[in-house]
Amino acid sequence: MPLTASPRAALLAALLLASGCAGGAASSAAATPAAPAPADAAPAVPPIPSLARAYQGSFLVGAATNPAQVLMGDTHELIARQFNVIVADNDMKPLLLNRREGRYEFGMADQVVDWAVKNGIKVRGHCLVWHQQAAPWIFTQDGTPVSREVLIARMRTYIHDVVGHYKGKVWAWDVVNEAFAPGEPGIDTEMGWRRSDWYRIIGPDYIALAFQFAHEADPDALLFYNDYDTESPAKRQLILELVRSLQKKGIRIDGVGHQAHSYLSQPDVADLEATIREVARLGVKNHVTELDVSLRERWGSPVLEATPAVLKRQAERYADLFRMFKRNREAIDAVLIWGISDETAWRKEAQPVLFSEYRPKPAFWAVIEEAAR
Ligand code: GLA
Repeated sequence: MPLTASPRAALLAALLLASGCAGGAASSAAATPAAPAPADAAPAVPPIPSLARAYQGSFLVGAATNPAQVLMGDTHELIARQFNVIVADNDMKPLLLNRREGRYEFGMADQVVDWAVKNGIKVRGHCLVWHQQAAPWIFTQDGTPVSREVLIARMRTYIHDVVGHYKGKVWAWDVVNEAFAPGEPGIDTEMGWRRSDWYRIIGPDYIALAFQFAHEADPDALLFYNDYDTESPAKRQLILELVRSLQKKGIRIDGVGHQAHSYLSQPDVADLEATIREVARLGVKNHVTELDVSLRERWGSPVLEATPAVLKRQAERYADLFRMFKRNREAIDAVLIWGISDETAWRKEAQPVLFSEYRPKPAFWAVIEEAAR
């Protein structure tokens, strides 16, 4: 499988060559030994308790990662010890997998998935249908928007090819991401539905079709709808309505993913809990898919300096959230943090995750302590 031509890919290719893993396609995973780490590539992993082990019996604990982290230095040991589920932060998005029609670049994503499978770690596939980071060719032909029929056919092909490629390796897919944006300023919506290209060209049943195609491609994979701000009552209603309507049509949906990008004072834990409980009442599961706690009071407010007092507040916030997850463990199967270490996290400027320079922060210890309560 050709790797992409980016500098990141080149770096990885060099690493793979050095470790004797180059050309490792999906099928060779079982036979390939774990990539030996270059001696000087990453900090030593201190002997700390494991998050996954601490929450065993409650839910899986995971994180978003990427090929460099699972293959370089000691970071892969940290990930394998701390987490029992992972998601690729970017590498499984359509923009990266399918830049050109009919051509797939699975190389980078395969590195993450194969590493996880080899290490007995579950994989969440993220994501098949989204208005951002879509395959750049998918909505148009010769510069004009494609018809509904063409877009449905393209979506079907993409989902069959990608879910088929990872059949038996991906535990759960985010089939559709962020379809709703009720009342969100600056976003074109209709009755709370985001008027994305998917929505405008196919209509609201693009979601049902996506779930149907994903189920056809891998009947054993769990299928999720994923969104942010799921604690908001307006979005909660739209999501519950979506789940009900798919169930009524006999279309498989296994659960709802709550991104849960959070701040020191937002969202209200009780609101997120209310959504989680309502979702469970419909007989489907919850995954917390992209948890982080930015060092900001709330969305849009300035980043606070990471003083011991602010890091303590972040730790308490993580503890509050995990306390709620624990008391709803019957309804929650997995909790994933959106990043391993602050410097590489999506919201790195706000130091939002549990490790810094791959060393545990107060928030890590608070989450560990919460497990024992
Ligand atoms: C959303 C998406 C994620 C990621 C973040 C930003 O939450 O679901 O895949 O792109 O935005 O990194």
